[in-house]
Amino acid sequence: MANPRAAHRGGVLHLTGDPAAGGKLEYFADGALLVDREGRVEAAGDAASVLDALEGATKIVDHGDALIVPGFVDTHIHYPQSGIVAAYGTQLLEWLERYTFPAEGRFGDKGRARDAAELFLDELLRNGTTTALVFGSVHPQSVDAFFEAASARGLRMLCGKVMMDRHAPDYLLDTAESSYHDSAVLIERWHGRGRLLYAVTPRFAPTSSDEQLAVAGRLLAEHPGVRLQTHLSENREECAWVKRLFPDRLDYVDVYDHHGLLGAHSVFAHGLHLADREWGRLADTGSAVAFCPCSNLFIGSGLFDLAGADRHGVKVGMGTDVGGGDSFSLLRTVNEAYKVLQLQGQNLDPARALYLATLGGARALGLDDVIGSFETGKEADFVVLDPRATPAMAHRADHCDGIDELLFATLMLGDDRAVQRVYSMGAPVHRRDRGSGLLAPAQRERQ
Ligand code: GUN
Ligand code: ZN
Repeated sequence: MANPRAAHRGGVLHLTGDPAAGGKLEYFADGALLVDREGRVEAAGDAASVLDALEGATKIVDHGDALIVPGFVDTHIHYPQSGIVAAYGTQLLEWLERYTFPAEGRFGDKGRARDAAELFLDELLRNGTTTALVFGSVHPQSVDAFFEAASARGLRMLCGKVMMDRHAPDYLLDTAESSYHDSAVLIERWHGRGRLLYAVTPRFAPTSSDEQLAVAGRLLAEHPGVRLQTHLSENREECAWVKRLFPDRLDYVDVYDHHGLLGAHSVFAHGLHLADREWGRLADTGSAVAFCPCSNLFIGSGLFDLAGADRHGVKVGMGTDVGGGDSFSLLRTVNEAYKVLQLQGQNLDPARALYLATLGGARALGLDDVIGSFETGKEADFVVLDPRATPAMAHRADHCDGIDELLFATLMLGDDRAVQRVYSMGAPVHRRDRGSGLLAPAQRERQ
């Protein structure tokens, strides 16, 4: 259903590119974001000029002192793990065995998967995340349940069925052949349907045979435009295991490279313990890395070297990695990113932090031509952030001098409470005071 053309008034804020490569933070203090009836950005600028130039019926939505920013992009998250966030006491390999595999085992039940998908999408939207690259479970019906729920809400989402044919409990294993077939059926059914995209999803090298990794490469070659998501070099024990399992490969990146899994549509989660050669291959192939600081700290994996990624020219997006990560919030995630970089003598300025959570994530997913900023013609997914969401934030805001400081304080102190409203293709999908989900038409009228 088409929405009325609408002008959203507030502090409009977005990036024109990566600040580390000359991109600029564009800020209109009394700004307006004009969204056409199809849900695309028609203009973004000073309210005076955008509103003065209006012709024809346009609804004005005044967001007061709030900041209007592009929807957040989560480049790495697992929807079947929502029920095991904040699981106590383990690091990656034991965490997988003790918590993750049993949780994912329950996603063969489509009804349960459907309920989990709805709860998961509610949670993403409550946190201002409008696009995510999402792991399903090994069961194809988990992906059907996810895409059905995302499609009903009109969201731009990416998901894939986990491929895993060894080193996991029997009840979670597929085979090279079945994973090929199941993934191909899902690609046919979902890839490019509305705003949805499919991602080929081998879990990580230790749980796929060479035969299955080859199948993943074949799926990518046979379906141009399909994405790839997997894990890479997260935990030291995992890295040592990969070395033992693939003695003929040069290093961890080479395991994936050998099977044609690197490329401009590939996103590798973590990348904490990479050698220069591996960074070089990621850069040469246009592959992206998902920086997941909440997870890297929570399950004790290590510190991501953003300066290293920049030096090699590797694309980076932010990932929450729920359930290894303990928060759905990209605000909490950039907060932890700031601290991880501080520990290494690196810095994350407010413009870069907002970039990584929006346009940088879109670029990592190969979607920067359609989302991530307020360039004219892009899909109008956006978040209205309240820099005064809590008494402490309001007090901090009173002491801010200029937008850089206000943006930094909002990013660092904010969480779901700062996410006042969320829009997907111009349509309201969350209001903090009313809850998530596609709002009923009667409610939309009152937006
Ligand atoms: N490596 C393999 N599987 C997983 C997973 O589910 N989460 C994380 N963080 N790392 C992984
Ligand atoms: Zn993960």
